[in-house]
Amino acid sequence: MTLLAPRPVHPGRAQGHLPRLLAGLADGSRAGLHLHEATFGPLPLPAEPASAAARRAASRLIDVVERSGLTGRGGAGFPTGRKLRSVAAGHGPAVVVANGCEGEPASRKDRLLLSRAPHLVLDGVALAAFAVGASQAYVAVHAGEERLAAGLEAAVQAREVAGIDPVPVRIVRVEPRYVASEQTAIVQRINDGPGLPTFTPPRTHERGVGGRPTAVNNVETLAHLALIARYGNSWFRQAGVPSAPGTALVTVSGSVARPGVYEIELGTPAGEVLMIAGGPTERPQAILVGGYFGTWLPAEAAWPAPLSHPGLRSVGAAMGAGIIVALPESSCGLAETARVVRYLADESAGQCGPCAFGLPALADALADLAYHGGRGDAAERISRLIRLIEGRGACRHPDGATQLAGSALAAFGDDARWHGRRGPCHGVQRPPVLPVPGDVEYW
Ligand SMILES: Cc1cc2nc3c(=O)[nH]c(=O)nc-3n(C[C@H](O)[C@H](O)[C@H](O)COP(=O)(O)O)c2cc1C
Ligand code: SF4
Repeated sequence: MTLLAPRPVHPGRAQGHLPRLLAGLADGSRAGLHLHEATFGPLPLPAEPASAAARRAASRLIDVVERSGLTGRGGAGFPTGRKLRSVAAGHGPAVVVANGCEGEPASRKDRLLLSRAPHLVLDGVALAAFAVGASQAYVAVHAGEERLAAGLEAAVQAREVAGIDPVPVRIVRVEPRYVASEQTAIVQRINDGPGLPTFTPPRTHERGVGGRPTAVNNVETLAHLALIARYGNSWFRQAGVPSAPGTALVTVSGSVARPGVYEIELGTPAGEVLMIAGGPTERPQAILVGGYFGTWLPAEAAWPAPLSHPGLRSVGAAMGAGIIVALPESSCGLAETARVVRYLADESAGQCGPCAFGLPALADALADLAYHGGRGDAAERISRLIRLIEGRGACRHPDGATQLAGSALAAFGDDARWHGRRGPCHGVQRPPVLPVPGDVEYW
């Protein structure tokens, strides 16, 4: 089922082969409107968006997205079609927000899309706006990313001149901190509030920007939507696996020969993705999957794990924003985790108990274990703190941090015992692998 007559993506690539989102960008260029349309064809929107036929087409588009099995690429993997349907069912004109903040320090995929394929994202914004009956759309990026924002503003302007978009699109800059890119925080920011997560309900899809039903979607999710609207749900499902269809952008870093952003079919084993990124430069001891709310997996468990929400769930991990970091054997996983949990504690809004008190205490306990040996009972103290923090925040921030800390205790259990008996290992003196903003930049 397709919205309009499909055009094949790059003849010969219509069978689900890669690349999809990154098609046409092989030479490292930025796709302007002309190259974008030459690659993917024009935006498939009806000429008269207010007609009864257009309303039927909008409902059909949501059907297509639901059948495609597209899930959000911003972290939680929520079904995109279901989100669009609930926003479309809300009262009054809706709002669409494209989340391009990419608050995960180890992620580069959204910046890559926004800077190199802005029109694919903006097509997705236009199509989502059409699907939910929106009258306004926003693209949120971190304040300070001025080149990115200026490039997007130029792309929006080019589309205005060409009369492409059905609704006005505004670029908004949000504070560059981890929790500020959570969806309710972005909505608050657009509503001229403090830009911190709010306590739900009402949920964003019911009452978001200006009190209107609001769809917040990750920019990669919207780029997939732009292709699904053109080529249909069956085409989308030709890549990936039945339980996790389509492709995803992953950011691979750590001890690999070619760190970077890669488009993969969902379900590809993590080890294969590391090989696509040039293979390990040093034997990996563990792989961080999903980002800073993610999971450390011992290398041998991670290697065969299929990169998809269901595939990773079976090994106790999650896709998150598609981040994979290979930790070399010479590094200290406990020290890496201590640094990141400290960062997450510092970044929280401090509005709720678990963030105000729990995360700083957890960061202290992890640092004590990593750098001072932890006086014997550190692992138990950390486990106790995790149990105290879990499930008590207004947003997922504290649970994300405890997931990371808990997985570190499991993956680096032997190291924790070593630190307890003999003090910190040599790995704590190695340059950090995981990037932390404000720290030395390792990219
Ligand atoms: C603390 C926190 C930070 C987040 N940061 C981002 C982010 O940088 N980019 C993003 O797309 N989603 C982020 N999310 C998820 C968003 O709240 C939201 O679920 C997502 O943008 C929805 O898009 P999707 O359904 O397409 O995945 C974050 C969530 C939390 C709890
Ligand atoms: S849990 Fe933390 S980050 Fe989330 S709203 Fe509460 S204080 Fe803010």
